[in-house]
Amino acid sequence: MNETENSAERLISPKAQESVDSQETSLRPSFLNEYIGQYKIKERVSLFVEAARARKEALDHVLLAGPPGLGKTTLARIIAHEMGTQLHTVSGPNVDKKGDLAVVLTNLQAGDVLFIDEIHRLNKTIEEVLYSAMEDFKIDLIAGQGPAARTYKIDLPKFTLVGATTRSGLLSAPMRDRFGVELRLDFYPESELQAIVERSSGILKISIEKLAALEIAKRSRGTPRIANRLLKRVRDYAEIRDAKSKGSITLSNAKNALEFFEVDERGLDTMDRKYLTLIIEKFDGGPVGVETLCSALGEERDTLEDVVEPYLLQQGFIQRTPKGRMSSALAFQHLGISPQVTGKLL
Ligand SMILES: Nc1ncnc2c1ncn2[C@@H]1O[C@H](COP(=O)(O)OP(=O)(O)OP(=O)(O)O)[C@@H](O)[C@H]1O
Ligand SMILES: [Mg+2]
Repeated sequence: MNETENSAERLISPKAQESVDSQETSLRPSFLNEYIGQYKIKERVSLFVEAARARKEALDHVLLAGPPGLGKTTLARIIAHEMGTQLHTVSGPNVDKKGDLAVVLTNLQAGDVLFIDEIHRLNKTIEEVLYSAMEDFKIDLIAGQGPAARTYKIDLPKFTLVGATTRSGLLSAPMRDRFGVELRLDFYPESELQAIVERSSGILKISIEKLAALEIAKRSRGTPRIANRLLKRVRDYAEIRDAKSKGSITLSNAKNALEFFEVDERGLDTMDRKYLTLIIEKFDGGPVGVETLCSALGEERDTLEDVVEPYLLQQGFIQRTPKGRMSSALAFQHLGISPQVTGKLL
């Protein structure tokens, strides 16, 4: 990564990148038994789907929460497939008129799944239309203007709303209350990411050693999207820089490739290391306010909070305190900086 790249283009960004992740659809599991890991969630989805199918009813509304790239969109598609119904997808920030939502809602068939991505970014007016759609399967539409305006009540078929959010804290309470089921996706352990890398290698016809798949898994920040992306980049490297491997991924060329792309043993890249070094060296290990970090790094607050920090927090490299971010002993150790250098006692 060079200095001109912004964080959204990082090889280890969990957010989807059109140019890089264009094959994502082919790697996306379509049924629950292909969805790797997240066992508790799978068990629950399977139970709810079976119960709804047995009653010949639509599934209750489902909220999927969790950081980017963990499989929310994938799960929404799977729910529709398992229910044997159609999936209709819209994205929160793109629905800005009541009429847009009404068109989508009135096109649903009984049992269909309406997937609203980034549901925390819907505007208030749209949210209110959704409340009655979700609760009573009705919407009020106003036709005409001024004194001639009339309200029409439209009945909707019983559908399932699947909402996805990376920031469930930003979802309004009335919205959240209307979901019968809330499922929180968490970062995947190495063994599950290894299985995802092996599955994707099979689909992409890449030959890969088990230990190489594990090495990629270790550096994927608990995130399937990153695992798939690293797999593809390591394949590029193996094909071009390790001609004798004939494109096969070995532990050795995988390690060389990941070093070449500057993704370290814990999945941190130059941006993470810059972030941690800043807290340690400039702010004596913290606490330091997020705004200060944003301006020092030239990054948006959203990017730091959504993209950089969740993994560093989850891995224990940093802590969030009321006074700001603090680096942990692990961060010092990982960067090879002695705590004495900063005068910090840990
Ligand atoms: N459990 C899983 N098993 C196998 N592959 C998975 C799994 N979860 C996700 N993936 C892979 O990771 C990719 C990214 O997942 P997905 O697009 O569903 O993430 P997301 O949570 O919707 O992300 P975002 O918040 O950015 O929308 C998928 O295309 C799929 O290939
Ligand atoms: Mg998604």
